[in-house]
Amino acid sequence: MSDAFRYEAYVIASADGMIADANGHMPEALVNRADQRFFNEALERAAVLVHGRNSHEGQANSNRRRRVVVTSRTATVAADPEHPHAVFWNPQGAPFSSACAALGVDGGVAAILGGPEVYRLFLKLGYWGFHLSRATRLRVPGGLPVFGRDSLPVEAALSAAGLTAGPERWLDEKAAVSLSTWSRPAA
Ligand SMILES: NC(=O)c1ccc[n+]([C@@H]2O[C@H](COP(=O)([O-])OP(=O)(O)OC[C@H]3O[C@@H](n4cnc5c(N)ncnc54)[C@H](OP(=O)(O)O)[C@@H]3O)[C@@H](O)[C@H]2O)c1
Repeated sequence: MSDAFRYEAYVIASADGMIADANGHMPEALVNRADQRFFNEALERAAVLVHGRNSHEGQANSNRRRRVVVTSRTATVAADPEHPHAVFWNPQGAPFSSACAALGVDGGVAAILGGPEVYRLFLKLGYWGFHLSRATRLRVPGGLPVFGRDSLPVEAALSAAGLTAGPERWLDEKAAVSLSTWSRPAA
């Protein structure tokens, strides 16, 4: 795990552990107002956001946030000509700290927003926290699992990585959307 950065993931999944439908699109039923509020407040506190090409959070303050967009379309790190607070980063070509240095960020919370490949990449680097929201009434048969189709279900993958589940609480009891934060036990 990085000393300078604390990797914290944010996910909302269906009861059967899916973050998108069979076509790779996030269903409307996975968008919940209370979860969005929780997500927005966390992103406001983060030093930097990290996501793949299709996982931009699309919120009101998005343009102000520093972000690292994971891509194979650059060899190492490159500025995003359209967004002054964003850089493109290829994890095969440069360390995460180089992408952050290009944004003037040298540590703090890196909020990991997915999708599956990006969640998996940071699972290897070591999560400090994994905030798992659940739409407990929704099932998405044939959908896209949190860590991808060829991976363990989300809870099994987090346990295997040494994280333990925190208590589950309702973010929105009426809509049956819960939250549990998985974290690394203190050494
Ligand atoms: N429910 C949720 O909480 C949640 C969270 C996140 C995403 N989603 C949804 O999940 C769906 C699928 O997302 P997605 O699979 O398309 O994920 P994504 O990670 O947003 O985008 C995939 C792209 O990211 C780049 N990438 C990711 N990992 C990389 C790596 N290790 N090295 C180089 N490039 C890498 C690649 O871009 P290049 O092709 O440019 O190389 C790849 O094509 C979307 O509908 C999204 O809205 C839902």
